[in-house]
Amino acid sequence: MPSSLEQLDFVPSNPTLGQTATIGELIDQRYSRRGAMKGMLGAATIAGISTGLGGCVTAGTQAIGQSTFVELKRGVDTMHHVAPGHDANILIRWGDPLMEGDGDFNPLRQSAEDQERRFGYNNDYIGFLPLPSESRGEQRGLLCVNHEYSIAPLMLPGAAGRELTAAECEIEKAAHGGTIVEVVKCGRNWRYVQGSGYNRRITGRTPGINMTGPAASSPRLVTSADPTGRSVVGTLNNCAGGITPWGSYLLAEENFNGYFSGTAVGPEAANHKRYGVPGGWYEWAKHDSRFDVGQEPNEPNRFGWIVEIDPMDPTSTPKKRTALGRFKHEGAESVHNRDGRVVVYSGDDQVFDYVYKFVTAERFDPARPETGRDLLDAGTLYVARFDADGTVEWMPLIHGAGPLTAANGFADQADVLIETRRAADLLGATPMDRPEDVEPDPRSGRVYVMLTNNTRRDADNVDPANPRAGNAFGHIIEIVETDGDFTATRSTWNMLVRCGDPAVAEVGALWGPGTSENGWFGSPDNVAIDSDGRLWVSTDGKEVLNQCANGVWRVDTEGPTRGRSQLFFRTPTGAELCGPRFIRDEETLFVAVQHPADDGEAYPPHARPSTFADPSTRWPDFDPLMPPRPSVLTITRSGGGKIGT
Ligand code: FEO
Ligand code: CA
Ligand code: CA
Repeated sequence: MPSSLEQLDFVPSNPTLGQTATIGELIDQRYSRRGAMKGMLGAATIAGISTGLGGCVTAGTQAIGQSTFVELKRGVDTMHHVAPGHDANILIRWGDPLMEGDGDFNPLRQSAEDQERRFGYNNDYIGFLPLPSESRGEQRGLLCVNHEYSIAPLMLPGAAGRELTAAECEIEKAAHGGTIVEVVKCGRNWRYVQGSGYNRRITGRTPGINMTGPAASSPRLVTSADPTGRSVVGTLNNCAGGITPWGSYLLAEENFNGYFSGTAVGPEAANHKRYGVPGGWYEWAKHDSRFDVGQEPNEPNRFGWIVEIDPMDPTSTPKKRTALGRFKHEGAESVHNRDGRVVVYSGDDQVFDYVYKFVTAERFDPARPETGRDLLDAGTLYVARFDADGTVEWMPLIHGAGPLTAANGFADQADVLIETRRAADLLGATPMDRPEDVEPDPRSGRVYVMLTNNTRRDADNVDPANPRAGNAFGHIIEIVETDGDFTATRSTWNMLVRCGDPAVAEVGALWGPGTSENGWFGSPDNVAIDSDGRLWVSTDGKEVLNQCANGVWRVDTEGPTRGRSQLFFRTPTGAELCGPRFIRDEETLFVAVQHPADDGEAYPPHARPSTFADPSTRWPDFDPLMPPRPSVLTITRSGGGKIGT
């Protein structure tokens, strides 16, 4: 989340640190999908879903020798760009119809009910679940895409500079959440399947989302609309996420604080302050009292969780899995550990907040997919302390252990999970420079932590894991889990890269040999790891600072070029790049261009606040009647073959 709202990630809420400003201001642990799906779905559900597509015949792809790609040049303009020898095509845009019979998007005739049948706004995380092919040469699957937040001045006609109506606030809620949509590749081209029985929207208005795990039914989750403390309307600020080994889709709830307004008083006031509640970034509380913390003080406790959905069953109930803790979850990337347990990594994206992992209590058996069904309801949540000697200590957040006792205000494990941040404060976790994606590599036993930036860190509180005061560009830490065991509680860490321009000595950048003037970047956010262990890092930085649009850079992690970075793709102006997702053969990379045109500090000559009527780019349609549209793209190699070769 950048632009105007991103400034708010720079506001620390961790009371264990100084609050003064300084001068600088993570499926391919997938198993046999067909077997897994049958186990999860039952034959009747599968039989009820048919896309009705005919056969698909394609020429085989040519074998391409291992080489590298020609780097893009850094820069900013109104279009997207990909490295020579590759094609980047629009797959689906905000407003595209998902359901049978719906027509093209008309931005002048929006409603919440209509938005709930269309692809949502500000696409972020992308997951992919393969489906059985119907003919040779065809690839088919479900795309699971998060929709992080809405931008009324860009989305809604005439909304800039005035209050929103109740109906417009409902459109905003409907533009949040997630989309599950069937996609198919015939020949070289991907398309989405309008009317597929799998297609589904989950939004900020979806009723009956279950709370499960240790905090479910806590009195602190009870509201006037829900005396059970187990049933929530909606999921919000769905940033990154994950696909589990059993094929479910995880949506992380990140900046939930921003939707709440009013005055926090009473027993939850201190808890709310630690999470920045109420943020007051949206106008919803004027029309919907559940977003007024003065009226519904427990409602914010029902957000900030990891939400799990079975995308193979369009009737399945989404579940907020409280065992994974409550914070500004950036993502939820998982790995099937060799002992059968599953480990889910997650960053808490705020300056001076923490890195976590969750280890399930029970084991997942790929031969019995049902063993994954409620696996995320029991296990141990750990928070990381990065020590100066290169050790990372994973400290468990367990009620009754250490300081997590009634004497410190934790009556039970529900309290520990609802106030995860305060529990982690008491354990002495290491405050980080805005942890975003935390991605495990099952092949190497390593875990990569994207730390996007922290200009609030000053010289008095740097540490080896966050070594720069006024860190405007971020860095990437590599954790080496001991013996490749992702459940390890004591492992090691090292610095992979320190971001920023290596030509400016004061920046203190650190890159591998061979990084060109195009290869450096700032503000790493999301990441995909290829089969060679290289990182494909997407960024959420400022164009003026980076002298470049956001995009995807490939970073080597092995050999003499370890730490070398190369520019592969860049977005149109004002956008950040989210959700890079390879599918198994690495011949397709899905990317999400989020908030095109939305950057008040955009690179000249685009430096002006964009509105619906006057955006800095009308990407991707370039239609004078259509506002810019966040979109998912497919990237393939021209002529076929593995991306980046
Ligand atoms: Fe939603 Fe941390 O980016
Ligand atoms: Ca971001
Ligand atoms: Ca992000």
